[in-house]
Amino acid sequence: MGDYAEHIERVKQRFDAALAQTGHAAALIYSGQPRVAFLDDNPYPFRVNPMFKYWLPITDSPKSFIYYEAGSKPTLYLFCAKDFWHAPVNIAPGDWQDHVELKVVDNLAQVRSDLGDKLQHAAFIGEDFEPMKSWHLGAVNPEPLIDVLHYQRAEKTDYEVECLRKANRLGARAHIAARDAFYAGASEIEIQHAYLNAIKFREQEVPYNSIIALNEHSSILHYDVYERSAPSESRSFLIDAGATYNGYCSDITRTYAAQKSGFYAELVEAVDNAEQAIIAEIKPGVSYYDLHVSMHHKIAKILSDFNFFKISPEEIYQRGYTNAFFPHGLGHYIGLQVHDVGGYLKNPQGDKFERDARHPFLRLMRKVEVGQVFTIEPGLYVVDQLLQDFEGNDDFNWTRIAELRPFGGVRVEDSVYVGEHGVENLTRDAFANN
Ligand code: GLY
Ligand code: MN
Ligand code: MN
Repeated sequence: MGDYAEHIERVKQRFDAALAQTGHAAALIYSGQPRVAFLDDNPYPFRVNPMFKYWLPITDSPKSFIYYEAGSKPTLYLFCAKDFWHAPVNIAPGDWQDHVELKVVDNLAQVRSDLGDKLQHAAFIGEDFEPMKSWHLGAVNPEPLIDVLHYQRAEKTDYEVECLRKANRLGARAHIAARDAFYAGASEIEIQHAYLNAIKFREQEVPYNSIIALNEHSSILHYDVYERSAPSESRSFLIDAGATYNGYCSDITRTYAAQKSGFYAELVEAVDNAEQAIIAEIKPGVSYYDLHVSMHHKIAKILSDFNFFKISPEEIYQRGYTNAFFPHGLGHYIGLQVHDVGGYLKNPQGDKFERDARHPFLRLMRKVEVGQVFTIEPGLYVVDQLLQDFEGNDDFNWTRIAELRPFGGVRVEDSVYVGEHGVENLTRDAFANN
């Protein structure tokens, strides 16, 4: 089991280095607060500051602060309102309590008076709050400090990897329930409810809107409409959905064919095999960009094998056609955020990789290193908006493309951990152990 004590030590060391490198004495991290809708008094679901849950497995405690002075024990100012309207904050006890000094407050002014002049030397990390301006903070979200911290976060601690394993276990359990609902003929909204019910999650607890797509809908990359009635015929099902554990995210995609044999079932299998083949190419030192390009070549081969083109796989890639079928990136870092940070940082100083003109949507440009966790998520879809540019082009087998259109597309997505002794597929292991 990844050890929380070791994790928080690493976080402290990382903050020590980052604060020293950027000239700050301390960090003040705000958990955030719920925001209300325009002209309304109902709040949007609360999303905690990722830098707050990096320190503590507390995701549901608005208006709280962590104050950390380099080399010392952090203080948690836990906000518990004196309020008879809402349930009191109920924070699960845990190992974390041994590692912080806990101060319960019911008013932000108490935080201010407790920290006093120290605020002038603290770098604040968080969203605006009232009355932030009058606190005279040393710096507010200083980019150089955040760049160092974001760069470091690509390497996960053992505790973080364990949280990601658990988030994958929850996600896989919910995916299995969703798959069964699909084969039982459920509608998109019913599948979404089966998913949430399997893990007793409310909708705001999943890390992003689940993509529950039947038939043509699966060609819409971020489809989250949830049709209320089932279609007259369910041919295909693409589900891209995750779960959270201690604030860490899973992000899993599976695609199912209603008919277990035939052209579409074979295409799903081909993409699934190609996804596993690219995972076999992962090793420290390889650049993620090169993996992405290698995936394009595999997609070109599938497009050729399934007769979507009248030309060779090499020509399919060279003429830029794979981008129309696989328009998104191969994947991204994952951790406290689904699209975890730092994928474009060349170094802790904040230099950034250029966006590549051919592959503008790729979110990760760094080299693979031990300790990283990222997704691998190839796809192949009929996106008419992208195909319009090639209308009348004879390289394309339009008849074959028309056969795929009613199924939408295919995507397969796993999260992998690059360990010292090899690559661990967190998602496939989670399915195997559910
Ligand atoms: N579910 C969003 C993504 O795969 O990046
Ligand atoms: Mn993803
Ligand atoms: Mn996804």
